[in-house]
Amino acid sequence: MHASDCELCLLASALQRALESGAVTADEAVDAFTAEQQDEIQAHWPYWGRLEQQLPTGGWTYWLIKAGRGWGKTRTGSEAVRQWAHEGFDYINLIAATADDARDIMVEGESGILAVCPKRERPLYIPSKRRLEWPNGARSLIFTADEPDRLRGKQHQKLWADELAAWRFAESWDQAKFGLRIGNLPQAIITTTPRPTRIVREIMADAATVVTNGRTYENRQNLAPSFFAAVLKKYEGTRLGRQEIDGEVLDDNPNGLFQSADIEQARVREAPQLQRIVVAIDPAGTSKKRSDETGIVVAGVQGEHGYILADRTVQATPEKWASEAIKAYHDFKADIIVAETNYGGEMVASVIRGADPRVPVRTVTASRGKAIRAEPVSMLYEQHRIHHVGMLAKLEDQMTQFDPMDETAKSPDRMDAMVWAITELMLDAPNTALIDHLAALQSAQQTRTETHGATSWRD
Ligand SMILES: Nc1ncnc2c1ncn2[C@@H]1O[C@H](COP(=O)(O)OP(=O)(O)O)[C@@H](O)[C@H]1O
Ligand SMILES: [Mg+2]
Repeated sequence: MHASDCELCLLASALQRALESGAVTADEAVDAFTAEQQDEIQAHWPYWGRLEQQLPTGGWTYWLIKAGRGWGKTRTGSEAVRQWAHEGFDYINLIAATADDARDIMVEGESGILAVCPKRERPLYIPSKRRLEWPNGARSLIFTADEPDRLRGKQHQKLWADELAAWRFAESWDQAKFGLRIGNLPQAIITTTPRPTRIVREIMADAATVVTNGRTYENRQNLAPSFFAAVLKKYEGTRLGRQEIDGEVLDDNPNGLFQSADIEQARVREAPQLQRIVVAIDPAGTSKKRSDETGIVVAGVQGEHGYILADRTVQATPEKWASEAIKAYHDFKADIIVAETNYGGEMVASVIRGADPRVPVRTVTASRGKAIRAEPVSMLYEQHRIHHVGMLAKLEDQMTQFDPMDETAKSPDRMDAMVWAITELMLDAPNTALIDHLAALQSAQQTRTETHGATSWRD
């Protein structure tokens, strides 16, 4: 916490000292204040927020908070918006990754705007208008990064962008930036677990940016022990942990099969008309590893180019992942579902057929190791022949952090599903054999023609 010399800070710190020394009991303290006063003290961010969580002073345009999970990024964004509203700015707009995130995290979440405002300051949330109306007349329009077109031409005086490194379309930030031009000091706060994206690097390099870097540990005392333990268990000691816990922007894994620069360079906003589309499933492992996710990736092909359309990975029972895969099959009008059967054997195909017998399923078995299977796919990426349609953050994290030499690495389910999809569409063994066969025939034909004249090959 960080006490300034305002009246409420002084009161709160005096009260806390009195409680700690036993000079007053909690009951006495509660009795000494009205409910409204208690509310004010509880919500007094200049006191409760850490120094790094307070709005920086000065003429900055961007405040980039890149920090680990649970550091308090969302809380800091909510508190800044609240402060701006209090200071009388008219348009303090919000951008979330998706509509669900806008509502469930930025507005109604445990660290969201409604939760951090004491009653007197709390805005009215009007979901149908995607808007917050503050008691003093200020407004917050709510945008989402998966709809860049809605941001086109919109102007902002102040802006809060949450989890920007996972936004599907970089164009949303480009639009937001153009619109940041009302008033004499337009400013944006960007709170995010960082990933090495073009936009994150661009914001970091901007001379008008203040960067705050934070680690999950700094907020440990305010985190549920179960949350804290789960984050550590998942990421501590791993390369990705430097991103997810320490808030570092990682370079690519030098041993990796996939480089983010290749993915970034080939990224497109939309896929062209596709010749074939598949949904590939990498089912979660045996019951021992029930916490594993089932990778579900949708991809398509057009000529020599592959397109990764969606990542629908879930952590669920076979019935649930089967229905998710079937939904993806219909959503994308896919030709087939391809499913790996190493763990589940016949179970995998029968679960899908059980849910919808009309969906064609092909099962595949991994006879070679993960890394060997992924290698030809990684070559297609190097040639920029595989295009991600928008950002697929979790899939891309798995791909760029996967180390084929590391035998202990957790199974990258999304990456595996992607590899199955591209293999099916572009590298499938029978097709390759056929293509090679045709090519060989053709060149033999040509040789004969050249040697014996146009008709001699018939002899
Ligand atoms: N300075 C603080 N004092 C008290 N609680 C805090 C503070 N900073 C964050 N928190 C709380 O910690 C939890 C995690 O914060 P959150 O903003 O959701 O983290 P992040 O967005 O970084 O994952 C929330 O319950 C939040 O209200
Ligand atoms: Mg958050």
